[in-house]
Amino acid sequence: MLKNNPLWYKNAIFYEVHLRSFCDSNGDGKGDLPGLTTKLDYLKELGVDCIWLLPMFPSPLNDDGYDIADYDNIHPDYGTVEDFKTLVAEAHARGMRIVADLVLNHTSDQHAWFVESRKSKDNPYRDYYVWSDTDQKYTDARIIFVDTEPSNWTLDEATGEYYWHRFYASQPDLNYDNPEVADKMIDILKYWMDMGIDGFRADAVPYLFEREGTNCENLPETHAYLKRVRRVLDQDYPGTILLGEANQWPWDLRPYFGGDEADLTAPGDEFHMAFHFPVMPRIYKALKLGDTTDILDIMDRTPSIPDNCQWCVFLRNHDEVTLEMVTEEDRQLMWKLYAPEDRMRLNLGIRRRLAPLLDNDRRKIEVANAILFSLPGAPIVYYGDEIGMGDNIWLFDRNGVRTPMQWTAEPGTGFSSAEPWAPVIDDDTYGYQKINVAAQQADPESLFHTMKHFIATRKAHPILGWGRCDFLRVENKAVLAYLRRTGEGQMLIVCNLSDQPQEVTLSLPEFRGVTPQDVLTGQAHNIISDEYTLSLGAYQYYWFDLSGTT
Ligand code: BGC
Repeated sequence: MLKNNPLWYKNAIFYEVHLRSFCDSNGDGKGDLPGLTTKLDYLKELGVDCIWLLPMFPSPLNDDGYDIADYDNIHPDYGTVEDFKTLVAEAHARGMRIVADLVLNHTSDQHAWFVESRKSKDNPYRDYYVWSDTDQKYTDARIIFVDTEPSNWTLDEATGEYYWHRFYASQPDLNYDNPEVADKMIDILKYWMDMGIDGFRADAVPYLFEREGTNCENLPETHAYLKRVRRVLDQDYPGTILLGEANQWPWDLRPYFGGDEADLTAPGDEFHMAFHFPVMPRIYKALKLGDTTDILDIMDRTPSIPDNCQWCVFLRNHDEVTLEMVTEEDRQLMWKLYAPEDRMRLNLGIRRRLAPLLDNDRRKIEVANAILFSLPGAPIVYYGDEIGMGDNIWLFDRNGVRTPMQWTAEPGTGFSSAEPWAPVIDDDTYGYQKINVAAQQADPESLFHTMKHFIATRKAHPILGWGRCDFLRVENKAVLAYLRRTGEGQMLIVCNLSDQPQEVTLSLPEFRGVTPQDVLTGQAHNIISDEYTLSLGAYQYYWFDLSGTT
């Protein structure tokens, strides 16, 4: 059963599920809700606390479900509303939570509102979307899907006007200046919350409103609306969360938490959580160059957030590795380092999975996860990354990182008894015959067991969820070192991001006389004097507990 802790998300382990690729229960080659329900025990075993489900609503799937045609139902491929209720009940029975995706910014062009809206200029639904007789409005707004969309406006022949869309042309933006739209989206939120879910990951939130002369992102009107959404949750569904997806710089993200910047004890009143986008590409850059400078820099420039809020940190998700929050120079460098082939690039990012990005080098995968599970924030694991799944850059759009989960070595990978909706990974390195859950569960040395151990160890040390974080300035740029602390204790994380052994000297006068114990291995190290010198092998990492004196 669920424990009644309203701040549960502060130290939760999140897991992102792409329903279509997770588990097919009815033999149609597409994953579904009953399939996911049969895998809850697996997620429980891994140590997952909260599942984030990608959009599961009826949709033409031009953007894999982020183009919603009907907010009140489940896509027939995935099952029924009853199946969804069963999933929620079964997850709760195991002490796990479920957050769904809430796509506020846009609908599919197949949604009944848009079908009406485009019929005529005086249709009652016309004003549900953003129409204009010119495509020269809001010209300061950037285009997000740069590979496919020449403009944020598309001409609709029927009425000779343009409609506004921040993503694909088949995803018209809703008009939040229309109070009816603003109200209807709250009704939709309540409809799903009433089924007992634990909150929402709110998609693409910076773009809800448009104003001339701005870049149409992070506008005050957007924040006001999101605060209204939050009030509904607080009043009617206490203990549930809003996790915001705003791919922005940390200082532009800060307002999404709300509260009072001068007083962190004042509760945040907008999002409970927000993804920390910019730190992610910097982890990859640091690992390639053996230089932690950019991680330290972005964490330095990350503002403090209210005590009742939390970052959500991730290494990969269902999208490309986004390079929007890096400089142009770094984007070129990252493409050169991580996307040598054209097909690996997509929009302003890289469509590859974690293991291939890290050369399938177990040491690199482990150290990246050692950082993920100890940075400030709640970590999220993308399905399949716990076993080191590969990708297929030849598939359409981002499907190459959304291939069927590899459960077993059998044909169909234990995912489906039918031909899967997308080809399973079948190469020598990452093929399901070699990389699959069953094999890794049986092998105590597998990545799966290491991930399980990271998660269990993190949970045994709540400092990693709750503690403040102080990065240590060390001379050796290859080594990342930080202290996590609460009133209850302190931990020291030390990671070597280079492929060479490194020595590092840390200044730790306040811990003189302490015997650091690596909580991941149980091994005790030398007593700390004012300075502490450590030798680390290539990509070696430590999570030291500093509470022990001997
Ligand atoms: C989602 C993407 C989606 C876009 C438009 C995002 O940020 O993560 O997968 O294409 O929103 O809805």
